[in-house]
Amino acid sequence: MDCYIKVYGCQMNAADAHLVSRLLADGGIEEVEDSQHADAVVLLTCSVRRHAEDRAQGFARTMRGEGKKVIVAGCMGRLRGEELVKEGIADYVLGPDEYRKIPRILKDSEVSDTVEELETYSDLLPVDSGGVSASFAIMRGCNNYCTYCVVPFARGPERSVPYEALERQVKYLVDKGVKEVFLLGQNVLAYAHDDLRFADIVEKVSRIEGVERTGFLTSHPRDLDYEPVQRMADIPELLHFFHLPLQSASDKILGMMNRRYTISDYSERINWVRQTFPDAYLTTDILVGFPGETAEDFRMTLDALKRFDFDFAYMFAYSERPGTKAVRMASQEPKEERLRRLSEVIEVQTRITRRRAETWVGRNEDLFVTAPAPRRRGMLAEMKNHRSVILNHTARPGDFVQARLVGVKGWSVIAEPAVKEVV
Ligand code: 5AD
Ligand code: SF4
Repeated sequence: MDCYIKVYGCQMNAADAHLVSRLLADGGIEEVEDSQHADAVVLLTCSVRRHAEDRAQGFARTMRGEGKKVIVAGCMGRLRGEELVKEGIADYVLGPDEYRKIPRILKDSEVSDTVEELETYSDLLPVDSGGVSASFAIMRGCNNYCTYCVVPFARGPERSVPYEALERQVKYLVDKGVKEVFLLGQNVLAYAHDDLRFADIVEKVSRIEGVERTGFLTSHPRDLDYEPVQRMADIPELLHFFHLPLQSASDKILGMMNRRYTISDYSERINWVRQTFPDAYLTTDILVGFPGETAEDFRMTLDALKRFDFDFAYMFAYSERPGTKAVRMASQEPKEERLRRLSEVIEVQTRITRRRAETWVGRNEDLFVTAPAPRRRGMLAEMKNHRSVILNHTARPGDFVQARLVGVKGWSVIAEPAVKEVV
């Protein structure tokens, strides 16, 4: 039995793919790199927008058409459930807390119907993908119930991974050459286990021998407090990278989204970050076309993009998700208008993104080399703030290289090794 894993959606799903790889390996099932040679396919699906569901369904149908056994796992598996089996899209459906059933399904063994509600998979060791950077889910689920979002329904309530389990996982990969650790969660700032909170975890993980860089993703702006930001400034391994999803800059829309911060709260938090880490790489998520978003609300978001000067933004047109509160709100914006607004924010932010990249040109930086660059010579590398750089030089993943930033191509900064001046 050869199995192929296909991943859609967010970083959590990418991390979940590693859990599934581990479960396959422990269950004696071969994982293959190419769906063509597989007897079975596991899809780790995303339901955050309709488009992601459509793509996964198309792929699942194709795979079934080729006679492969198809397991639709993850968020869409949980939300759409048996309906996908009835429609002939999947042979089996599983939610994000049911991955342990995969090996038994693939071996045609009996599988129970029970769902482990508060699964953390904390006993599983990660798989070694040979990289120098690795991600670890420190919490799963979400309690926030933003009114547009299906994640709390798909992934269930928040629960945190005990520190001892995390340490065991991190040490396992550090022994195999990982130097950069990314702590993942739908909202890592909600981490709570025993008396440990998020800043404690960042400190403890950074102190593990061999961990040279620590990053984290995603943070709900409401939960970012001043004191932990100050504590983080004392952690030398911390990446100066903050992803703080704004969604909208209209207080009316933020209220309707149940985000529980105002634009002035958000500004304050950005100021803390920028004052504490002047070189911070700041990214955000923007959602346009939420029900009731007027031209004026939208203009506030455009203005905020210019004001906050994000290094990068993930931008989306609102997609109605069954079961959420927003879908029942009056005045759903027409699709064309949502898309028009989306192209307008993309245009504005693209200019900002490029200008922000250009501000680095001419500086010297200590770069962390991560992997060979695709389709061209050189290496992918990262700055201390996680901004990606293409290094025109030969180096090994895991190396630190002093480099001069010489230009910008697309969204990437280009670097050359710094030449030592001869006196
Ligand atoms: N429609 C469009 N975008 C959405 N997101 C979440 N739910 C929806 C939806 N219904 C976006 C938000 C979130 C990111 C992960 O996906 O911007 O931060
Ligand atoms: Fe969805 Fe909001 Fe939870 Fe993020 S914080 S996963 S947007 S409900």
